[in-house]
Formats: sequence, C-alpha cells, structure tokens
Amino acid sequence: MKALQPSWMIKLLTWVRDSRLVWDVMGSVYNRRIYDAIAELYDHIARELPSTGQAHILDAGAGRGYISLLLAAKNPRAMITGIDYSPMQVREAEKHRQKRKIVNCSFSRGNVMDIRFQDDRFDAAVSIGSIKHWPDALRGLKEIRRVLKPGGCLVISETDQGASDDAIRQFVRRFKIWFFPDRLLFWGLRHVVFGQSFSETALAAAVREAGFRDVECRRVPTCPYVIVKARK
Ligand SMILES: C[S@@+](CC[C@H](N)C(=O)[O-])C[C@H]1O[C@@H](n2cnc3c(N)ncnc32)[C@H](O)[C@@H]1O
Repeated sequence: MKALQPSWMIKLLTWVRDSRLVWDVMGSVYNRRIYDAIAELYDHIARELPSTGQAHILDAGAGRGYISLLLAAKNPRAMITGIDYSPMQVREAEKHRQKRKIVNCSFSRGNVMDIRFQDDRFDAAVSIGSIKHWPDALRGLKEIRRVLKPGGCLVISETDQGASDDAIRQFVRRFKIWFFPDRLLFWGLRHVVFGQSFSETALAAAVREAGFRDVECRRVPTCPYVIVKARK
C-alpha cells in the first residue's frame, strides 16, 4: 500500500470518510457493529452526564442514536434531542426509538456547523465519534457551546489519534466487517480513522479554545477513544 503514496490516498479516503453520502449509504454497516465495539464507552458517558431530572440534552452527530436512547431510558424525565446531518441515520435512529417506545427523545436532521436552536437551550450536550467528520471542529464546538445554558456540561468523545497499533488491532477484532479483510480494516482504521482524528491533548485544546472551562480528560480502559468533559 505504501507504494500508492499514502499521503494523498489517505487525504482522499478521509475526504470520502467525511462526506454525508457515505453515512447515507454505509451508515447501517457502521451502526450494526459499533455498539458491541464500544458499549463500555456509551455506558461510561451516560454515567458522566449529570443525573438529569428534567434536563434537556443535545446529542450532536447522533447517528443511529445509541447514547440518546440510553440517556432517555435512564432519565425518563429528561428530554434528549439528537441531530445528525444524514437523513438515513435520522431514519434509523427514529426507527429504533419507535421500536423501544421511548417518548422523551427526538431525532432530526441538523448540521453541527449551524445548529438550529436558540442560545442557552440545553442543560448538557454529548457527542461521540462525530467531531473528526466536521469540516470545522472549532465552529462545531462553538455552536454546541452557544446552545448550552451557562454552566451546561459537554461530554465529547472521539477515536484516539494516539492509540497504539495493538489497541487498534483489538478494536478490529471487535469491529469485524465480513467483507473487509482484517489487515485492510486495520490499515483503514490506523491511517484514515484513528490517524486523522484527535489526540487527548488536541481535543481538550479545541474544547478550551471554543470557550469551555473546567476541561477534564477521561478514559475507558478497553476503548481506544478520548473523552473530554467540560462546562460552558
Ligand atoms: C462515527 S458516527 C457516530 C454516530 C453516533 N454518535 C454513535 O456513537 O454511534 C458519526 C456521525 O456523525 C454524523 N455527522 C458528521 N458530520 C456531521 C455534521 N456536520 N453535522 C451533524 N452530523 C454529522 C454522521 O452522519 C454520523 O452519523
């Protein structure tokens, strides 16, 4: 693969990775595998968010809605709003919401670059695995900050750019896609997913630059993701 000039190839594949069409077409492949691969992360993040009462929580880049539905089921008095720019992901999330008869959660199309909610609307916000796809991460973080109430909590998580090859190999074993040979999947995750993502330091710095305070980093031992928690 090295002979094919990985730098432009990786750039091209990263561009493909970040296009909405990929989520419309391939989102279901990702959705079917991700829960088992990072279940501990979802559980950890659900615990990190303040015990919520009637809180209104935003899930930015909600995908098929795992964390939104988990939070909604855990906090029946809270209201969870999931936004995602892919119509297919929104349909999938809505399908699962209806199947589980969860009423305190809604999903709609929305771009994190330009969130269609008024300022100071949400008590908390969560975002998992989405920020690496945003064309302007800082703008997305500022948008989330804008719609949070003062003191509102953000928990954001992303694939760890600093993950070791061993950690990614273990992740490949959990994330298996039958039509992708493990070696190719490892290469793609190493160079195009984890490689073009955020380290703990970079994610914390971006969150700080967007104006958040009390920025703290977290880890889930078995999961090669970084987690940053902060307040508006
Ligand atoms: C890796 S998936 C993660 C989905 C979900 N958070 C989860 O944990 O399963 C990334 C999601 O971010 C969404 N996304 C990417 N860029 C976005 C943007 N600018 N605005 C809204 N959603 C976006 C994609 O459509 C996709 O569903």
